[in-house]
Parts: sequence; C-alpha cells; structure tokens
Amino acid sequence: MVLCWNGVFKIKTKLLKVHAQVPDIQKISQCAQIIQSGGLVAFPTETVYGLGANAMDQEAVAGIFRAKGRPADNPLIVHIGRAAEVKYLSAYLPAGAADLIKKFWPGPLTIVLPRHPRVPKIVSAGLDTVAVRMPQHPVALALIKTARVPIAAPSANRSGKPSPTTGNHVLKDLGGKIDAVLDAGRCDVGVESTVIDLTTDIPTVLRPGGVTLEQLREVLGEVEVDAAARTGEAPRAPGMKYAHYAPEGELVLVEGDAQRVFEHIKELYRQNNEQGYKTAVLAAEESLFRYRQELQPDILISLGARSTPEIAANKLYGALRSCDTKGAEVILCEAFPREGVGMALMNRLEKAARRRISF
Ligand code: TXA
Ligand code: MG
Repeated sequence: MVLCWNGVFKIKTKLLKVHAQVPDIQKISQCAQIIQSGGLVAFPTETVYGLGANAMDQEAVAGIFRAKGRPADNPLIVHIGRAAEVKYLSAYLPAGAADLIKKFWPGPLTIVLPRHPRVPKIVSAGLDTVAVRMPQHPVALALIKTARVPIAAPSANRSGKPSPTTGNHVLKDLGGKIDAVLDAGRCDVGVESTVIDLTTDIPTVLRPGGVTLEQLREVLGEVEVDAAARTGEAPRAPGMKYAHYAPEGELVLVEGDAQRVFEHIKELYRQNNEQGYKTAVLAAEESLFRYRQELQPDILISLGARSTPEIAANKLYGALRSCDTKGAEVILCEAFPREGVGMALMNRLEKAARRRISF
C-alpha cells in the first residue's frame, strides 16, 4: 500500500489475463486466495465484470462499498458456483425458485430470496432478503469454486458509471483501489442480469436484464414488472434509484417514428455543434449511413440493427465509455424497440439519459 500526495492509500492492482474458456488455474488460485484473505478481485461474468469479495466476511464486503463509492443502502448480489449452494444462503426456497434455477442457472438471472441469518446483513444492506445468482462464465465459476465461499459482487465500476464489459474498463474505474482484476476479454451479454423477486405474492422483475420477461413468463406464468423498472418511480431494488450507467456527457434519448427521430437528432446535432459542444451520435445500423452523409458527426457509433437488441445491449456500455474517452459533451442516442433484451437496453438508456424526447 502506498500513501499518495492527496493522502489516499493506493494499492497496486494486479492485472491477470486469462483465457475465457480455459482459465489458467494458477491465476485463478492466486485470486481465490485474495478472496479468502478478505481482498477484492474483479472478475468477468457473462453479463458484466463484477467486483468480488467473500460474502460471509463483513469487513471484506465493506471494502466493496468503499472501493466503488457505493451507497450503503444498495444491496449486493451473491454469486455461487453450484446451484445447490442457494440453500446455504436462503432461509427457504419460495414457489417457482426451483423451476427458475433449473431453467436459467447458470446464467444472467438473479433471484431475490428470503435471507438466511448466516448471510451478513451488510450484503443485503439490512434487508431480510438476499439476491443470488449462479453465473455462467467459466472464469467466474472457477474463481468461486476455488475460493470455496460465496462471492458478493456488484458490477465493477465506480458507483453511477456504466458497468464494465472489459478488464480495461475495470482498471480505469478501480485501478489502485482493488487487489486484482481477472481479465478474460469482453463480456457476452453486456448488460447486467435480470433481477426477479420471489418474496412477493406475484414474482416481480425489479431490473430487466439478460433473461427476458417473455422467458420468465413461460416458466412462472404471471410475472409483474416493478414500476421503477419501467418508469422511474420509487424502486424496490434499492440500486435502481441512483443515477446510473451515466457517461460524462449529457445523454439525450430520442424515441418514436424512425424518420422523425432522424430529423430531430440532425437538428439537435446542428444546434449543439453550432454552440461548440463536442457531440456524439449513437444510432441503429440502418440510419448510420444517412448520419454520415448528412452530418459527418465528430463521433458516430453504431449499436447494430434495430431488430437485434441483444447486439445493441452488448455494445452499449463500451459505446458510452468510448464517448467519454473521446470527450463527448453531448450524446444523441436513438431509442430501440423494447422487445426481448430491448427492455433491458432501454431501461439502461433511460437511466443514463438526462433528457428524453418521444414522438
Ligand atoms: O449481472 C449482474 O447482475 C452483475 C454481475 C457482476 O453479476 N452484477 C450487478 O450487481 O449488476 P449490481 O450491484 O451492480 O446490481 C445489483 C442490483 C441492484 O439494483 C440492487 O439494488 C439489486 O440488484 N439487489 C441486490 N440485492 C437485492 C435485494 N435483496 N432486494 C432487492 N434488490 C436487490
Ligand atoms: Mg451496478
């Protein structure tokens, strides 16, 4: 540990590159030991990178909140390496849990369950529930199994910033604050897991994500979507109330008929450009050519075709971070259809946006 000029202690963060499918067991063991001794390790999952600590060690978990600058009332997800370990963390399994686990684990689904008293309260920010997920990424699974403890892990970004989808994103936000980063390249899904609460009468989606509402309804029948996950009302997943996923520049989200969206973004671009603001356009592949021809924007990024929200979701956080790197002051973004993973994509865009315009 080194004391820096501004009085803040910095630690040297180890960057350990591993193969995504067949990770080097020595590097995994090194990180598992860090977890066992109360340290912090960022690791890849199929959704985004997580910042992990031993979930059963209160001090270690407190370190996660400090490193991220995370508000203490925002609970963490506990990651397990084998589905059966859910019984260690949950007081009992409510109806539907076994079916969801069978169908979607390992994978991008987090299930909110009654918390077993052995799970430290700090993990759940004092709630009597606990959020549990078994990730699918081979590196995440190897780390959890080798550490032999459940791993509490929020996304490995500074609180409020877009979640990291590469090891470099993690280093940029948390370098000097955590012990190690296991870097296995880009995450597949690119947005966080779906969070579903099974402690309510009707199962309720608190955060849309990698597993879609349609998929959940196929297994459970009736499923509600928490108002905040749709509209920004007071949320029940405490984390959803904070400014989120936000790039440095002002993000303006424009939704509606494709032609009107195009015309409006063009107009906004011209206004901002005239006032000297460095302006970026994030658009669907279909309209990219027209923006390039008619505007030649400073920064123009494709989020993929409108019909493939899973590709847009995968590109989103990288695109927002790239706008930051290039110094975009204003980011004009086309909305996408809300079907499938489009619901999660639009949820993140709405939370990141400082202004929304709909036609
Ligand atoms: O894909 C993911 O879920 C990633 C990877 C690393 O697994 N993790 C992640 O964690 O996105 P985080 O902390 O950034 O988001 C967790 C969300 C927050 O909105 C939090 O409020 C909610 O889950 N949550 C956690 N525990 C909860 C609980 N007991 N009840 C309700 N919401 C909970
Ligand atoms: Mg997060």
